[in-house]
Amino acid sequence: MGETKAVTVALETLGCKLNQAETELLARELSEAGYWLVPPEEGADIFILNTCTVTHIADRKSRHLLRAARRQNPDALLLATGCYAERAPQELAGIPGVDLVVGNKEKPHLLELLRATGKIGNAQPGQPAAHRRTRTLIKVQDGCNDPCSYCIVPRTRGRERSLPAEQIIVEVRARVTAGYKEVVLTGTKIGSYRQDGIGLKHLLERILAETAVERLRLSSLQPQDLSPGLVHLWGDPRLCRHFHLPLQSGCDAVLRRMRRRYSLAEYRRAVESIRARVPDAAITTDIIVGFPGESEGEFEESRRFCQEIGFAGIHVFPYSPRAGTPAARLPDQVEPQVKRERKQRMLELAERSAHLFRKRFLGQTTEVLWEREAEAETWSGLTDNYIRVFTRSKEPLTNRVLPAKLSAMHDRGLWGEVAR
Ligand code: F3S
Repeated sequence: MGETKAVTVALETLGCKLNQAETELLARELSEAGYWLVPPEEGADIFILNTCTVTHIADRKSRHLLRAARRQNPDALLLATGCYAERAPQELAGIPGVDLVVGNKEKPHLLELLRATGKIGNAQPGQPAAHRRTRTLIKVQDGCNDPCSYCIVPRTRGRERSLPAEQIIVEVRARVTAGYKEVVLTGTKIGSYRQDGIGLKHLLERILAETAVERLRLSSLQPQDLSPGLVHLWGDPRLCRHFHLPLQSGCDAVLRRMRRRYSLAEYRRAVESIRARVPDAAITTDIIVGFPGESEGEFEESRRFCQEIGFAGIHVFPYSPRAGTPAARLPDQVEPQVKRERKQRMLELAERSAHLFRKRFLGQTTEVLWEREAEAETWSGLTDNYIRVFTRSKEPLTNRVLPAKLSAMHDRGLWGEVAR
């Protein structure tokens, strides 16, 4: 009797760490249910794209990937889920070859929906996930109750809700047992974590006290979340010295139009409180350029503020109007070529700023969680303060935490020599 062929699934994700965390969870569920996970380029019986809709570029990428997946897998079941699927299911269903569109609300039932199509997992459950990494993402919170004027996410993610601390701790322990060295907690607004009277600070204390996690990282925080008590927790070296604080604009007038809930003075204080208690912390951010009404003077103010802070990294996004948001209705939209030019100038600053941050660590020895072989005998990994380090090694280094002496600049980080 011949062997039954395993039902293969390829997963791809766009967007933020929250979306990635959900894909990771789905991968685990699929694998436990007997589906065989394969990398997308290998072709599969089922192709699932977890989409993002934060900008029109994310929309375009989602549509492009779905079309490409259909071309590469003519007979596959093609399923789109995620934020784009939640915002505009009809748009995705209209793409030739898309079989199923599953919004965020239905995402937890994706497995049942898949089984209902007749494609049922039949492999030995529990095979290792196809893209096993050294870092794992765990969702602790979802949704946002304080929409910014430009943001579509509250619409795609709904009202705030948090997962029970108990469940998160069980999950962290399971990932540690599975061999992951670093856990990243993620959500739409993890500073708003609240469940059974427990806030984020208490949750972190419990994870540190009740699990053997080696490294714990937070995906992002709002500046207003940084109470002295919270920052004090970084006295525990397992908490990664990396704070992603989305600034969005370094100009108070623009922040008000964006309906952000802090001023530049408050943001500056948050940065100072981190730097006073967590030496050598990496502070990274997101900046939107070309927000409606952003004058050249306002943009320059924003650029100067970013320069003053000295970010370790800046993600730059040209403003993208999202239908149904208040900012999309503002009259004074900035011309596309002006946005492109501002993006370029902000990126130049981002590059200089990241370079200066990394340079400070030359000559120091620091622990690196080694991830993968970037090219032949060249390995790459991350420090806890988010510096990418490269080293030459004949020996495999994946998923080992080893100290490295940071010896030279690399165009994407630093070179290091592993101290053995
Ligand atoms: Fe995109 Fe949804 Fe995240 S819109 S950025 S995937 S919350």
